[in-house]
Amino acid sequence: MTVEKVAWFDTENWEKEYLENKDFPFEIKFFEESLTKDTAAKTEGFDAVSVFVSSQVSSEVIEELDVDIIACRSTGFDHVDIETASEQGIKICNVPRYGANTVAEHAFGLILTLSRRIHEAISKVENGEFDHQGLKGFDLEGKTLGVVGTGSIGQKVIEMAHGFNMDVLASDPYPKEGLEEELGFMYVSMEDLIKKSDIITIHCPLTDENHHLFSEEQFKLMDETVLINTARGELVDTTALIRALENGNVSRAGLDVLEEECVIEEDIEILGDISDECDPQKIVEDHILMERDDVVVTPHNAFNSREALQRIEDKTLENIEKGRNTVN
Ligand code: NAI
Repeated sequence: MTVEKVAWFDTENWEKEYLENKDFPFEIKFFEESLTKDTAAKTEGFDAVSVFVSSQVSSEVIEELDVDIIACRSTGFDHVDIETASEQGIKICNVPRYGANTVAEHAFGLILTLSRRIHEAISKVENGEFDHQGLKGFDLEGKTLGVVGTGSIGQKVIEMAHGFNMDVLASDPYPKEGLEEELGFMYVSMEDLIKKSDIITIHCPLTDENHHLFSEEQFKLMDETVLINTARGELVDTTALIRALENGNVSRAGLDVLEEECVIEEDIEILGDISDECDPQKIVEDHILMERDDVVVTPHNAFNSREALQRIEDKTLENIEKGRNTVN
């Protein structure tokens, strides 16, 4: 199979400029819009599509496609219906390790924002209040960090935690041999991790098995725990999180991902023009989270550094050229 034409969805301007100076053996047509049921017709005559996480490549969308490859410009690929793609003989490739340090740095950005109340301090100064009333934070040194998922991002987080003199526990259904000694941490059960960690940071993929990995049952085991999620919104039950923040099981939360990210992407007023795929209750709950002083939300931005983005583009070109199937 030789790819000659690629339909590049979710294109940003910088990507066009960056790719203009690159050599690759196929033609790319750029589309600013996402790949949806409505835009799928634009792929006619193309051998491959490339999408970012903002494209929801559902079975309905895939059934409209006649391409050999879906090239995800992301690590996660839960926005693509893998089963339907496989049934149609479509390869799927992703970019597994473009920015482990990038996402880990963002996770620490969220941790430090919350531990030192930086968001509240900035807003105080912006309001002309130059005092430290109500801004007492806490040290990371000596605290226990619980890392959920010891893949490439989780491992970087563990390395960084040692720079702050933190103790590290981790949980992973597939523990890696020798990693505890190499990086200096201890694998424990999820229950122990939840009970013993001061800060929990999530770095596992969203799968069919771990939807709402953090729900009421898990929050009940926490005590003023800080929760950081830069993985996927659906790993955390938003309703249960709000309750846990209310009753003190969770003291603060730093979220780069939300259960209904359309609330950000569509820039709507609450309950305004919501697409059918968005759950209005979750959107309202996301707004409740965003309004809270003990919660910081960033717009699925952990991957977004110059170096990481360029690595994504390079790897995607390579994946398409080599006809890689990295997912199934
Ligand atoms: P990876 O595949 O290298 O590691 C994932 C690890 O999670 C593996 O060790 C796996 O065994 C473990 N795991 C799977 N299910 C688990 C569970 N239920 N509990 C605990 N551990 C579990 O993936 P990587 O590169 O570290 O990325 C992790 C996730 O981060 C991605 O799947 C993606 O959803 C998210 N991500 C978010 C970004 C953002 O901008 N916010 C950017 C890049 C990735």
